[in-house]
Amino acid sequence: MMFLRQSSIVFGFIAATSNVAAWVSQSPSVASANRAVVSSATRTPTSLKMAEYSTADQVARFAAAQEEKNERFLNIDSVYNGNEIMGKRILVTGGNRGLGYEIVKQAVADGATVIVMCRSSNDELEELVGKWNVYSGIDVTDTEAVKGGMKRIKSDGGALDYVINNAGYFYEPCEKITDSSLNFEEQLKQIDICALGPLRVNAAAVESKALADDAKLVIITSQAGSAEWRKVQNKDEGGDYGHHMSRAACNIAGVLQAEELRSMGYSVLMVHPGFNRTEMTAKYKHIWDIEGAVEPSVGAKRVLYEAMQSSLENTGTFVNAEDGLQIPW
Ligand SMILES: NC(=O)c1ccc[n+]([C@@H]2O[C@H](COP(=O)([O-])OP(=O)(O)OC[C@H]3O[C@@H](n4cnc5c(N)ncnc54)[C@H](OP(=O)(O)O)[C@@H]3O)[C@@H](O)[C@H]2O)c1
Repeated sequence: MMFLRQSSIVFGFIAATSNVAAWVSQSPSVASANRAVVSSATRTPTSLKMAEYSTADQVARFAAAQEEKNERFLNIDSVYNGNEIMGKRILVTGGNRGLGYEIVKQAVADGATVIVMCRSSNDELEELVGKWNVYSGIDVTDTEAVKGGMKRIKSDGGALDYVINNAGYFYEPCEKITDSSLNFEEQLKQIDICALGPLRVNAAAVESKALADDAKLVIITSQAGSAEWRKVQNKDEGGDYGHHMSRAACNIAGVLQAEELRSMGYSVLMVHPGFNRTEMTAKYKHIWDIEGAVEPSVGAKRVLYEAMQSSLENTGTFVNAEDGLQIPW
């Protein structure tokens, strides 16, 4: 996840309010709603020369989408069709709360069988998916627990059509060199959860032969993993070392998985889920409105929509679920 720190928010806001047209003309990502939909449907990741990129400045991105009445961005219902996942078996990590829970809820509403791998369960979740479909007590940093859970999932039910790696963690304070707030333990923890976590889960799914022939492995990552976008989103500030490094590591692991697993028929998609109003982003409440933060039920549809578009054609790409456009590495 990446959010503009205060100084760049002000800069972004001025840009967005006083000069939207300039941002629109500079950015290919703020094209019309139709264009965005076409672009997401025709992404050809193997040919990055053709790629259309999303915009780094979140305030400008959201302002331009509003200015252009970009339906794909502002109203996911205009493109969302859950029929594609009806009858599919979908594993969601961290599906007990936040965005993960909303993904579970949406997929169940669409007629999917949802299996949840999480640390702690709750009654609401078990009522929704069935107690037998919740594999709790599994921390994604615990290799043996993940492997054991995946073996049980395989032996308890059929093959998984989708694996949605949603579990993640963002250390609360902003880490900086200049105020001596670097926390190396927390950095390693974030890398363990956000980068190694999806790798452990996907590897365990492959090793235990839990996947359907054309399974889609989806990794919910963050735009924070884009090195290129740090020059805008962390301009003159830096900071948040652990979280942002963890997502960059997550992304390169995703690309390597895409290359390794293509011949087996499995695709790997990295998705930035947009800005969602969850516990994780409560520290950014003051910028929820200006940066277009959505309810996690909307974020869930955005993620599922992108998951449905994932295939061997676009395997190994990094997509912004807000507009369906790619994010540069
Ligand atoms: N919200 C956003 O705007 C945003 C933006 C960019 C990316 N993301 C990514 O989207 C995902 C969901 O975010 P969110 O906003 O829903 O966050 P959240 O409300 O903080 O929920 C995080 C989820 O991850 C689980 N989790 C954390 N550490 C875990 C571990 N070691 N093992 C297993 N599960 C673990 C949590 O389980 P417990 O209940 O056990 O803690 C919880 O289910 C995360 O990967 C996040 O990085 C979110």
